[in-house]
Parts: sequence; C-alpha cells; structure tokens
Amino acid sequence: MRIEYDKDLTDLTTFKVPAKAAIYAEYDSEKDLLALTRTPEFIDNEFLHIGAGSNLLFISPFKGIVLHSAIKGIKTYRKDDDTVFVIAGAGEKWTDLVDFCLENDIAGLENMAGIPGEVGASAVQNVGAYGAEAADFIHSVECFDVETRKTVLLYSEQCRFGYRDSIFKNEAKGKLIVMRVSYRLRKGTEARNLTYRPLKEFADSLQRTPTIRELAEEVVRLRDSKLPDPSLIGSAGSFFKNPEVNEYFFQEEIRTRGIEMPVYPAGKEGFVKLSGAWLIDHSGLKGSSIGGAEVWPGQPLVIANTGGATGSQVAELADHVVKTVKLKYGIELEPEVNYIDTDIKVTVLGSGTSKGVPEIGCTCPTCMSTDPKDKRLRASVLMETHGLRILIDASPDLRQQALRLGLSRLDAILLTHQHYDHVGGIDDVRPFCIHRDLPIFANPQTAHDLRKRLDYCFREHPYPGVPRLDLHEVECRPFKINGLEVIPIEVMHGKLPIYGYRIGDFAYVTDAKTLDEKEKEKLLGLEVLILNCLRLNQPHFAHLILPEAIALIEELKPRRCYLTHTNHQLGRYAEVSKLLPPGVEFAYDGEVITIKHQPHIHIHHE
Ligand code: EPU
Repeated sequence: MRIEYDKDLTDLTTFKVPAKAAIYAEYDSEKDLLALTRTPEFIDNEFLHIGAGSNLLFISPFKGIVLHSAIKGIKTYRKDDDTVFVIAGAGEKWTDLVDFCLENDIAGLENMAGIPGEVGASAVQNVGAYGAEAADFIHSVECFDVETRKTVLLYSEQCRFGYRDSIFKNEAKGKLIVMRVSYRLRKGTEARNLTYRPLKEFADSLQRTPTIRELAEEVVRLRDSKLPDPSLIGSAGSFFKNPEVNEYFFQEEIRTRGIEMPVYPAGKEGFVKLSGAWLIDHSGLKGSSIGGAEVWPGQPLVIANTGGATGSQVAELADHVVKTVKLKYGIELEPEVNYIDTDIKVTVLGSGTSKGVPEIGCTCPTCMSTDPKDKRLRASVLMETHGLRILIDASPDLRQQALRLGLSRLDAILLTHQHYDHVGGIDDVRPFCIHRDLPIFANPQTAHDLRKRLDYCFREHPYPGVPRLDLHEVECRPFKINGLEVIPIEVMHGKLPIYGYRIGDFAYVTDAKTLDEKEKEKLLGLEVLILNCLRLNQPHFAHLILPEAIALIEELKPRRCYLTHTNHQLGRYAEVSKLLPPGVEFAYDGEVITIKHQPHIHIHHE
C-alpha cells in the first residue's frame, strides 16, 4: 500500500487538466485494500476510486482520498467446447485484456478494441463501442464491500447494467470496490458482431467474415479517424451520453415541429435514444472553444483539451453546448463524464413561510418594503455538489423560482414534509422528467400523502404528460443519491415528525420546533446550517422563533447559520439583521452560499 499526500493527478487522468487530491492511495491485492480501509485516511474521508482517469473532470481539487487499484493478472479459468471464461484484475489496462484475447483466439471483445481505461471501469461504466458493450460479456464481478470489509461476488444480472450505467455508479457507489471482472467469451477467431453499419460494410468489402484481429484493427482505424489521439490530445472520449427522451416528449416537441433526426431504440420502455453527436453538430457547435477546450470536429460528442485547458474551461464549454442544444431542440444533454467538485453551492430559492412575504392584502411595513430582501417566496433551496443538482422541497413558487434561476436540470428532490408550502410545486417539475423519472426522497408519511395528493401521477396508466416521479420512501438513516451520502435528521414540527437533511458539512432544517438529543448530534460540526425562524418574539406551537433559534444555534455551533422560513411579522431585513449575533444571518431569496469541503489529514509516524 502506498499513501501519498497533496498528490498531483494531472497525468493520471486522460483529460490532462490540472487535477489534485489531498490523499492518494494505491493497493495491489485484496489484503492490501483491507488494510487500507482500516487507516484513518480512509475512515475519516470521502473516497473516490479512479481507474485510468478516462472519465473524470476535475473542477476543484478532490479533498478526500483517491484510490487506485493495481490488482493485476489476466487468465482463462474455465473452458468447455466453445466458451472461455477470462478473469482480469481491475488494475489491468482494457487494451491489454483485448490483446490477450486476440493472442489466445478468444472472441467477443474485438469490437471494443482501443477503448482507453482499465478493467475495473469496464464494469462500473459498462463501456461500449461499435455495437458491443462490456455487459454483453461480463459474467461476474468480484468486489470488496467497504462497509462489511468482505468480498462479494455479483453476477451480471445483479449489476443492473444499463447504457453506460451499472449498480456501481448508483446504489453501490462508495460501497463496493471492483477487484476483478470475469468475462464469458467464445473460442475462435471469427468476428461475429457486425451490427454497427461501418463494420458490416468492412466485412462486405472483404467478401468474407473478418477475423477478430482484422475487426479490432478496423475498429482502431475508425476510432483514430474520429477521436483525438489520446497520446497527443487530452479528452475523456465521449463527454456526453446519447440522450434518451420519453416518447411523449419526442412526439410533441420534435416530431410535431417536423424535425428529422436519427432515432434509435432506448434501453428502457417508453423512451427513444437520440444521437448526441447529431444534436451538437446541427446546433453548429463543432470546433467551438473556450481556452484550450474544444468541441472536437471529428466527433462532436468529445470535448478535447487541445492545450492548457482547465477543468473549469471544459465545464464552461460543456455548459455552453448543453444550453445551445437545449435552446434549439429542448433536449438536455447529460455529461457522461464525472465532475469532481467537492464544494457545495446552495442557492436560496425561497425564504418565506407558507404565505410568503408580502402576504396578500397586507400593508404592514415589511409587506410594503421595496427592499428585494423583503420579498420572500415559499421556502426551498437548490444544492449543487459533485455535478448533482438537488432541490430541497418543491414550493408552490417552484415555477417562478426555476425561471428566475434559469434552472433546466434536476437530479433529485428531497422533501422535508408534506405541508402544501413544501410540496405544492411538484406538478411544475415536468420539464425535469423528460430524460428519466425524477427521483424524490421523502419520509413514509410524506410519500403516503404525496400518492394521495398527486394520485394522477401514480396511476398505472397516467395521462401522458403528467410529471413522471420515482418516489423513494426513506427511513431516518443515511442513504445515497448517485453515491452522495444524505443524512436525514428527524425534527418535530409541533407534533409532526419531519426531516431535515445533512450533506457533508451542510444541513437544511426547516419547520422545526424541537429536536431530540440524538438528532442534535447529527448536526454537530457543520460549516453551514440553514434553520427556520418564524418571527421575532411571539411564540408559535410548531415553529422556532428567534430566541429559540439562537439558543439552538448556540448548542449546535455551526460556523455559519442562515435563518429561513420567516414571515412578515419578523420585520424588515435591514433592521432585524442588526439583532443577530456574529455568524448568524437571515437568508434572502436568490442568496448563494458556498461551502468549501475540508479534508481530514492525519500525519503518519512510521
Ligand atoms: N454524427 C453527426 N455528426 C458528427 C458525427 C456523428 O451527426 O460529426 C452522427 C452520425 O451520423 C451517427 C451518430 O451521430 O448517426 C452516431 O455517431 P457514432 O457512430 O460516432 O457514435 P456515437 O453515438 O456518437 C457512441 C459512443 C462512443 C463509441 C461510438 C461507436 C456514447 C456516448 N458514445 O458514440 O463511445 O465509440 O458510439 O460505437 O455512447 C465513449 O463512450 O467514450 C465513446 C467514445
């Protein structure tokens, strides 16, 4: 095991943009990995497992521990008449595995010749090209479970492979580490998969079935003609996925506008797959650049680092591509590349109580104030981290809030509870459901209420065009959204138990009146707390008022605290702000709060 600190990772990623990690560790066996997971470096920090770094974009340095597998070895282990099983260590290069197969007359992987990356990533990412994907051949995956510290074997069907997707990118992210992958392949030298049109044409030109070696060479030639040469120009292969959109959207927004474009069957029912390259090309983006980052003319799904690009420039260009395509076709491209960004950005979308400020018909000084900070929509925040955009609560003002912010993508919604001012905007999430059913997380009571309130969304055959929701009931223990850990905190809203949420060093607690001691413990050591505070001094049965909120803040000691869910009786922002102790502020609509993640580094004495 080798542990290094403040490690430069630029040359360990294919993008070649500046990249760093607070801690870096490499292991070469299961025993070594087990020992590593017992070190304080591992226990106290978030981890990120990398392969050849061919799918990562560093926006900020990674402030936890980066792991890399050096588990090697490729061998065949079971044969019958025409099947061969090949098992390879996660740290082997994918191209070495393909070469091994070609040398030993083992067929199957030849369509995927030339894909950069390592064997571990072939399972995580379900890599694919030219009519084949790793999942077609993966028999099983040997993993290390970091929670139980045991080895587990997942058979192919347990890996939930999808298009560039698997369980390792979702539920098992941050839990299972791939150690070895076993592939079920075929003995022989005949290349049989000619489904990709240019390969069929190649076979036709030979007037016979190509050998696996010939096919692999043709694939590499095709790749070279389209993709930048990885030894000269940094990239992550395709930057975007080919978008899948639901058939209703496709019919209503594309077909009815008379736009002709390539359409392919999607992996999931009710969806079609479109060509990302076509969309980018027809949006006139080929060759667009920001700094050293360029939309690659040979294959516009690729963003290349033609020299000296930074992660932020690549991200800015990607954003420009997404916005331009969205404007022209209404389709939102989704990056296939993982953004490494451990900082958390929180945007306050609304900071008012259930009636908002001003209240309808009220002429009090706060409601009449012209200060924008006294205009409070119903409470909700947007949280952005690790490339994910998560909304906490869907207020009845969601439409206005999303338009104001230019919000066009959401990865999930966390609901605190079922009161109308926190869920009333759910029907407005329809634009976020074009590409997938939108995941929503809530406690069982809220989920139950939502199914009743929005029964039209949960019928077996819903009216086309209703929001497509993927509702998850969560118990009060940590769960993950795309690998991001979310800790629910149970707080009492009067007599109603509801949730607050903690993510890293940030927590959002609204509509609280009281908390149990053990729930308070979950809120210690915060960088930022957003907490509800209804008004200055008239007590309320279900909400904290200012003196109560301050007493709680003194107990929890967050470094910074922002008060939200306030009503007009609070008074004007400019005046009441003077009453607050240092480190405490009233939140206001549109406020952006940034939380920098701090690594926990231990000095080793060997
Ligand atoms: N097209 C354009 N303009 C262009 C290039 C292509 O309109 O400039 C159109 C083509 O006419 C075609 C379509 O786009 O209809 C598809 O092009 P291509 O065959 O190159 O495939 P792709 O869908 O763009 C995918 C994978 C690649 C893989 C190729 C070949 C994804 C995100 N990308 O690209 O994988 O090599 O197919 O199988 O699925 C990677 O994942 O990193 C990667 C490079």
